[in-house]
Amino acid sequence: MTRVFSGMQPSGDPHLGNLLGALAQWVVDQHRAESLYCVVDLHALTSPQDPAELRARTLGLATTYLAVGIDPEVATVFVQSHVPEHAELAWIMQCTAAYGELSRMTQFKDKSDQHEFVSGGLFTYPALMAADILLYDADQVPVGDDQRQHVELTRDLAIRFNSRYGDTFVVPEGVYRTAGARVMDLQHPTRKMSKSLDSPQGTILLADDLADVARKVKRAVTDTDNEVRFDVAAKPGVSNLLSILAACTGADPAELAGTYTQYGPLKADTAEAVVEFLRPIKARHAELSDDPTAVATVLAEGAEHARQLAGATLSRARDHLGMLPRA
Ligand code: TRP
Repeated sequence: MTRVFSGMQPSGDPHLGNLLGALAQWVVDQHRAESLYCVVDLHALTSPQDPAELRARTLGLATTYLAVGIDPEVATVFVQSHVPEHAELAWIMQCTAAYGELSRMTQFKDKSDQHEFVSGGLFTYPALMAADILLYDADQVPVGDDQRQHVELTRDLAIRFNSRYGDTFVVPEGVYRTAGARVMDLQHPTRKMSKSLDSPQGTILLADDLADVARKVKRAVTDTDNEVRFDVAAKPGVSNLLSILAACTGADPAELAGTYTQYGPLKADTAEAVVEFLRPIKARHAELSDDPTAVATVLAEGAEHARQLAGATLSRARDHLGMLPRA
């Protein structure tokens, strides 16, 4: 059976882009593949985190996975740092990657320009991501387009390791979301909706109350003329609303465009669709938050299963590398 692995960082509050983009896909994938979904807390450490916030967000993100419909009876849900094999294989991957290769990662270049403190971990981050994927012999890795370079590097590292030390890792494939499935900022529709807090009116958080959600959608920036048309380049604001409405209702954005002649009704319908999409997820999230031991149990079972798989792969890698067996 195909195996799928993906992860998300607990370094911000989950927003509509995470839900409609990544998580909705994971929910579908869990029924066609053996899926592992990880809260990648070690990745969050690449920039300084407040300890209490990190702890709360890690549990909160795991709760969100479950609230959107990831079923722990079907998929494995766990926290990266609960499986110490990630850190160990990450070191091996750091030694497999070339310095020049890591230097060419565009996300590192972007992020290191933005941060005043650039950690060594920010530089070696893709080696940890490679370890995440390779530990589970994952065939497919559903991610956003911004992660393409990291998945390509993971493939190169797997191939390099296999050719140096013998067949050890499955070479994974990236599965990339299409542009239409990308949720843009409601105030700045040419940039992705993101966790960074500099555009609160453009970002819909799972934690927002539903009245705020509706207000933010109705105040979304649209484009200057009055035509409703799905054209991401020429009409980014309207196209974003159409994409969101389509994603919430399972429709096609270009077809939806034909049913509107004015912005007002499009905004009203999109606001309602987003509210109705979020309502049950918020309710389930609140229910699960009232029972943190239930979520903790899911994570404990998830980590136990993950460790079995990860341990087997790591032993294989250690053996092929020539590490002396532990007695
Ligand atoms: N780097 C990914 C991101 O920021 C998160 C991530 C870490 C990930 N490890 C992964 C995604 C492994 C897929 C597979 O979005």
